[in-house]
Amino acid sequence: MSDKVAKLELDGKTYDLPVLKPTLGPDVLDIRKLYGEADVFTFDPGFTSTAACESAITYIDGDVGELLYRGYPIEQLAEKSTHLEVCYLLLYGELPTAAQLADFTQRVTKHTMVHEQMHYFFRGFRRDAHPMATMVGVVGAMAAFYHDSTDINDPWQREVAAIRMIAKLPTIAAMAYKYSVGQPFVYPKNALSYAGNFLHMCFAVPAEEYVVSPILEKAMDRIMMLHADHEQNASTSTVRLAGSSGANPFACIAAGIACLWGPAHGGANQACLEMLKEIGTVDRIPEYIAKAKDKSSGFRLMGFGHRVYKNFDPRAKVMKESADEVLGLLGIENNPLLQVAKELERIALEDDYFVSKKLYPNVDFYSGIILEAMGFPTSMFTPIFAISRTVGWISQWKEMIADKNQKIGRPRQLYIGPQKRDYVDLRHR
Ligand code: CMC
Repeated sequence: MSDKVAKLELDGKTYDLPVLKPTLGPDVLDIRKLYGEADVFTFDPGFTSTAACESAITYIDGDVGELLYRGYPIEQLAEKSTHLEVCYLLLYGELPTAAQLADFTQRVTKHTMVHEQMHYFFRGFRRDAHPMATMVGVVGAMAAFYHDSTDINDPWQREVAAIRMIAKLPTIAAMAYKYSVGQPFVYPKNALSYAGNFLHMCFAVPAEEYVVSPILEKAMDRIMMLHADHEQNASTSTVRLAGSSGANPFACIAAGIACLWGPAHGGANQACLEMLKEIGTVDRIPEYIAKAKDKSSGFRLMGFGHRVYKNFDPRAKVMKESADEVLGLLGIENNPLLQVAKELERIALEDDYFVSKKLYPNVDFYSGIILEAMGFPTSMFTPIFAISRTVGWISQWKEMIADKNQKIGRPRQLYIGPQKRDYVDLRHR
């Protein structure tokens, strides 16, 4: 709280709105008492000007293109850290000591297998189901398999649920993939790293030995880190809203996965690669730029634009470097999709439409190129985002449960329906 107070004048009366001071970012007007005192709501569809909670986890400055996890810049973490270390940081607030990291890694690693009965659950799905559809179902069903960690009032159960989800989401996503291609499920291998184990569960087959490429393992780990948390985005807000009713953590994360699936959010990485393929060659770019500028086409450049970043998305910068590195190391730097992506970015960033609307490549613009080079089909891109974001969702959910000011989320509305009227009997309509 600061000494500053904003004044609202309405119908000849003045109302004081306290100004809250964040550690970083713009001041926040406290309107919690406004309805009680002035009998008015505020109107903010899409929450463009509304803070829905206090949080100490992630900070974004969209004007300068800055992303901090617990204060640490994403660029430093992407260069020096690992996904599991970032998981610890997001969950517990500080970088771990060597002993804490070893203990955390051990705890996650020991939970990578899923209940054997879950295999039958998978078999109920059609083989051609989108892996995100399967994941929403299976993660929601975790509450039925692990009901010893669904009591949200027990800190120990909350901790076990968190570790279980961080550990099992890669296994569940890999099983969804294996099921869709008709191959046997591959059990986790605990000697491997978090990212290496995921690649192993996706690409190993019983018929031959699979050796995890260190290049791909590092690239996958970096993709996971870059996606690990992103403040109060749509899926995280969904997790918080679901959790605000006291729902169990597995149900909340399943809700987050469902929200992430949309093409304006996590589904953009799949949509972006499909768009790059559709463009196909550099000479067709102007046609697609024109389409994106034409509102009546309904077409948007996927992987472009962001609600918060109005300068650049720092994750996209790291991802672009990673795409160059991975494709270079794999000897496929002349990949036509990468050429199309780079040229599309160059042309769009010189175009008045994109410049004036501050539309820049976002994290999804280059991630699909890396994932395809690794051998993933486009349908697995969003599940990989979901694995990576799981720790962010859980950290935010845990923070919310521990918040004494937490209330059930219940937005109000600007009602524009009919006035009160009397029922009309069927024969008089
Ligand atoms: N291509 C063409 N025009 C665009 C685009 C785009 N990708 N994005 C925004 N615009 C235009 C939009 O038409 C609007 O124009 P006008 O002001 O004339 O009506 C203006 O830019 C502002 O757009 P908005 O939809 O009001 O902005 P928003 O903050 O509500 O939406 C967004 C942000 C990310 C949903 C949007 O930029 C978009 O749909 N991008 C494509 C999908 C995408 O790449 N999503 C991934 C986001 S990053 C990963 C994640 O967090 O999930």
